[in-house]
Amino acid sequence: MILITGATGNVGREVVNELRKSETPFKIASHRKDSEYVYFDFENADSFRPALTGVKKLFLLRPPHIADAKKYFQPLIDIAKEVGVEHIVFLSLLGVEKNPIVPHHKIEKIIKKSGIPYTFLRPSFFMQNLISQHGEELRKEKEIYVPAGKGKTSFIDVRDIGTVTARILTENGHENKGYSLTGTEALDYYEVAEILSEELGETIKYVNPSVLQFRDKMLKKGIKKEFVTVMIGIYFTAKIGLAKKITPDLQILLGKRPITFKEFAHDYKYELV
Ligand SMILES: NC(=O)c1ccc[n+]([C@@H]2O[C@H](COP(=O)([O-])OP(=O)(O)OC[C@H]3O[C@@H](n4cnc5c(N)ncnc54)[C@H](OP(=O)(O)O)[C@@H]3O)[C@@H](O)[C@H]2O)c1
Repeated sequence: MILITGATGNVGREVVNELRKSETPFKIASHRKDSEYVYFDFENADSFRPALTGVKKLFLLRPPHIADAKKYFQPLIDIAKEVGVEHIVFLSLLGVEKNPIVPHHKIEKIIKKSGIPYTFLRPSFFMQNLISQHGEELRKEKEIYVPAGKGKTSFIDVRDIGTVTARILTENGHENKGYSLTGTEALDYYEVAEILSEELGETIKYVNPSVLQFRDKMLKKGIKKEFVTVMIGIYFTAKIGLAKKITPDLQILLGKRPITFKEFAHDYKYELV
């Protein structure tokens, strides 16, 4: 049995879509008590054992607000080990091996130490963030408002992550491996705005605000201070050229060319305008 956490999120949704196509049996975990799914809450350790009992493969992610790896993930992985989980596929982060500050680094260590076979998926920045995190500016103001300068990002489409995750959960041979997943092109936000303008048929402008302007606008929108700080860190990383790395792993796992930004803009046209 496979258990999917974060099934309503960007990646989990696509993993579920792919597994449904393959007719593989799986269960969805949810922290919403009123849902029809298996009750599982990262913030309620009592939910771990009942949810994991009988599970052989676990798709695990870290919801963005769960930052303390030791507090939340150590007990979870201990119970996974006790109940006999045989494979954990963890949604991590590109470059995590060299970045001990991010929680994903610590979570990978906890999983490795447990001895449970694992696969670490380390994706780059999601194309779909343009819809979720920045969709409001895009739709209302026709702007991309991120402080990333001219830095390039090797964007990935979450549909490709869903495809490879489902494959890894249903095939053998991916145990104890880490995959760095990126698209095949690195784009700066001026190029992103140009592609969006072409596909959407209206002018989209990349504003390239300063960090302070960005911070003020996000706080005014009601985004929590901590999350704004995380976003500033992410766009600073892009600005200084640390998000442009392109790797072959995704193409190898997919067996075909990953989805391009142009294809993403085309497919999601009605969510972007
Ligand atoms: N965005 C990017 O560009 C990017 C790139 C690389 C890696 N990542 C990593 O990807 C992860 C996020 O993945 P995502 O974007 O697919 O997720 P997401 O869209 O942020 O969704 C979070 C999921 O976690 C669930 N959740 C929230 N609180 C929970 C709790 N207490 N217990 C159990 N489940 C809970 C949510 O359920 P409800 O919907 O029911 O609340 C939802 O399904 C993060 O670790 C992030 O660092 C992101």
